[in-house]
Amino acid sequence: MARILCTGGAGFIGSNFVRLVLDNSDDSITVLDALTYAGNAASLQGLDERRFSFVRGSVTDAALVDQLVGSHDLVVHFAAESHNDNSLNDPSPFIQTNLVGTYELLQAVRRHGTRYHHISTDEVYGDLELDDPARFTETTPYNPSSPYSASKAGSDLLVRAWVRSFGVRATISNCSNNYGPRQHIEKFIPRQITNVIDGIRPKLYGAGQNVRDWIHVDDHNRAVLRIVEAGRIGETYLIGADGELDNKSVVELVLTLMGQPADAYDHVNDRAGHDLRYAIDSSRLRSELGWQPLYRDFEAGLAATIEWYRANQAWWRPMKQATEAKYAAVGQ
Ligand code: NAD
Ligand code: DAU
Repeated sequence: MARILCTGGAGFIGSNFVRLVLDNSDDSITVLDALTYAGNAASLQGLDERRFSFVRGSVTDAALVDQLVGSHDLVVHFAAESHNDNSLNDPSPFIQTNLVGTYELLQAVRRHGTRYHHISTDEVYGDLELDDPARFTETTPYNPSSPYSASKAGSDLLVRAWVRSFGVRATISNCSNNYGPRQHIEKFIPRQITNVIDGIRPKLYGAGQNVRDWIHVDDHNRAVLRIVEAGRIGETYLIGADGELDNKSVVELVLTLMGQPADAYDHVNDRAGHDLRYAIDSSRLRSELGWQPLYRDFEAGLAATIEWYRANQAWWRPMKQATEAKYAAVGQ
């Protein structure tokens, strides 16, 4: 029975991680989350309070982080500013949370000797050409494009340095684009689903040729648990489920699954510096740790996600107007 400190547990991936752990183990979890615009206390409602507790606070608060790390066996660090578009408008919170927050956690796990797992992204590797047969591997050079991905790349490098210089017991995972329930509606898939529910036409950046490598959030979190359990200290593991699709195809599928004509969307302003394609080679994770994705049918996973947003309008509706107003201001 482990005592897990999960940062960012009120966010999309973290809240699904908390539920997965509580449903499948005897471990207890403390969530440390600042409840920024992206955190949602409703994502953690109804959990068993004998094994779950919530602390509102920032990963940049050194004293709080030290106290919490000292009373747990394992830290899984999800907390981040996570949206590329926001990082183009104001990079400052990305530097604070993603870099300074990771630094404070590393110093605390160093002091207490606590096992640490760092959640990161495939975006640290930059992007690939559409016709490039290559995919990202653990040895691909870092080449981040946006303030968000640069801050995540920097945080990964801090972890590597703390492992080598101070013997911190850490692992890193870099995952591709997640989809599933409880994702903030600023993100591509839930934005379009909630647009269609509200009678707004989906918005595609540029020509929509950009490719993302989709994975269900539960497959990501199952991989994280496997790495925590059996991963080699100091190693990086790439997580991906062979889910490459271009954005236009995803929008068309959302529309079709929701009973609308496949071309009922608008092209809007492209993202500055928009990464063209991400693709993950997850051979190391599969061969060393025996992980396999359970969600292999993207259409079925997307249909279930659409159902979740239809059934949980109270969860997302309070954020819809402000989210769309932010996009409208920049022509997206
Ligand atoms: P999210 O934006 O949905 O959630 C982030 C959470 O972190 C929120 O609950 C927010 O309140 C919290 N947070 C922000 N700043 C904080 C601070 N200073 N202190 C404490 N809590 C703070 O993000 P997500 O999509 O769930 O991503 C989680 C992690 O996974 C991030 O590290 C992200 O880089 C990584 N990641 C995401 C994806 C994806 O597709 N969403 C893919 C690969 C990796
Ligand atoms: O690859 C992992 C990354 O995936 C994570 O590190 C990030 O935290 C996560 O946000 C995600 O980054 P992306 O920038 O790929 O995700 P986003 O949902 O913002 O956009 C997905 C694609 O869809 C991207 O090519 C931009 C495009 N897009 C996005 C929105 C919001 C649109 O075409 N229209 C939209 O309205």
